[in-house]
Amino acid sequence: MSNESQGLMGWIDARFPLSKMIKEHLSEYYAPKNFNFWYYFGSLALLVLVIQILSGIFLTMHYKPDAALAFASVEHIMRDVNWGWLIRYMHSTGASFFFIVVYLHMFRGLIYGSFKNPRELIWIFGMLIYVALMAEAFMGYLLPWGNMSYWGAQVIINLFNTIPFVGEAISEWIRGDFVLSDATLNRFFALHVIAVPLALLGLIVGHILALHEVGSNNPDGVDIKKNKGADGIPVDGIPFHPYYTVKDIFGSVVFLAIFAFVLFFLPDMNGLFLEHANFDPANPLNTPDLIAPIWYFTPFYTVLRAIPNPFGGFFMMGLAIVVLFILPWIDRNPIKSIRYRSLLFKINILIFAATFIILGYLGLKPVTAFYSQLALRFTELYFLFFFVLWAYSKTRSKSFWIGSFIVLLGGVTFYDKFMNSSGDDPSLIWKTWFIPAVYLMVTLLLPFLTKWDSEKEVPARVTS
Ligand code: HEM
Repeated sequence: MSNESQGLMGWIDARFPLSKMIKEHLSEYYAPKNFNFWYYFGSLALLVLVIQILSGIFLTMHYKPDAALAFASVEHIMRDVNWGWLIRYMHSTGASFFFIVVYLHMFRGLIYGSFKNPRELIWIFGMLIYVALMAEAFMGYLLPWGNMSYWGAQVIINLFNTIPFVGEAISEWIRGDFVLSDATLNRFFALHVIAVPLALLGLIVGHILALHEVGSNNPDGVDIKKNKGADGIPVDGIPFHPYYTVKDIFGSVVFLAIFAFVLFFLPDMNGLFLEHANFDPANPLNTPDLIAPIWYFTPFYTVLRAIPNPFGGFFMMGLAIVVLFILPWIDRNPIKSIRYRSLLFKINILIFAATFIILGYLGLKPVTAFYSQLALRFTELYFLFFFVLWAYSKTRSKSFWIGSFIVLLGGVTFYDKFMNSSGDDPSLIWKTWFIPAVYLMVTLLLPFLTKWDSEKEVPARVTS
């Protein structure tokens, strides 16, 4: 009797497993005791999701999904509706913060090997969330019907035209019209406010259920379930509530302070979070000087632009995302955490992070021969990273390292010689050739020339 809940809780529990769920997912969910800074971003992603849903609901009360009215309705929200400017900026700034948080969350997964056995499905759910989030942001961006909304959507939807045979039919199907029009705006509105958010919510539930089934990873990559006390509780585990609820509340407060600062002082982030051309209404006769997607898409946009053949670029852009889905089967090294992996692994991760940021930067720049050449080089690094990650999965022979170095650098050089069109300045090809060459030298030749590939022993228990 003493264990049974009483009063209202008892009444609910007799009809719905509320206490049971609270125990399973909070007060008796044992999480590793060594979570660090990187473990804030999952709960922060949930927080931003709530911000987006709430601000979105209030925006929808005054927004008009009609090509003739949409732009003016957003201006009306900004100028006339009580607190409308705050709600709108919460939503637009929230979108960028969502991606900042999610990129950091994914990076944590990469450095601590959180995608590895038995957490592959958590990662796949995460990637599906990421793709849904990109679709959500892309469709939301059309809704203000500003000039960048219009031309950005135009460029992205036209990418589908490059697919052989069926491309034009697909882009017409997406637009719901022969040109980008009111029909497109309406369907994007329907998808943005209900269809994709519902899918997102379902995926997030799946993500967290899968996580709670196998338990959280941690900065040491040690499986805490392997070391249980007499009571059956992992000795390195602590109940999620109150320990991590308190930690996450602290993280949320710091996050909200930063969020509020941007919201009140830099809501457009100098054109990065809200592009300047979007303060003009959509105009099919006036192309903005530079059509660049919003920052969180630009790494992939650069991959697209790096390949001169339109379908080739579209294909590589898709591949750049697909390759992330199969990460658990690429990095098969049994050591999870970066703490115990080799120095070369750490260097490789750092180069990848820099590559991703540089790709993002290049996507915001105008197309010049120099930038296009850099785009190609960093696209090469992006894909080579996954090869190196796979190569570092186990001990390899000297001939493996030399062989793969020759084949990969040979492949890059072959592409340069026969397929690389560098626009006005062919010397750029050879001036930038050193980028993949040095990368391959460091990652593929140093493993047998130095001791930098040696890994540390993973402790039996978590360390701090
Ligand atoms: C709306 C977006 C997302 C939400 C709300 C979300 C939520 C969460 C939460 C609450 C956790 C547990 C706390 C933590 O480990 O930080 C978690 C863990 C995890 N998430 Fe996400 N997530 C999202 C997107 C993603 C994406 C895009 C990926 C990767 C593609 C991903 C991969 C993971 C992995 C691998 C873990 C387990 C981490 C570990 O145990 O070390 N998540 N997520």
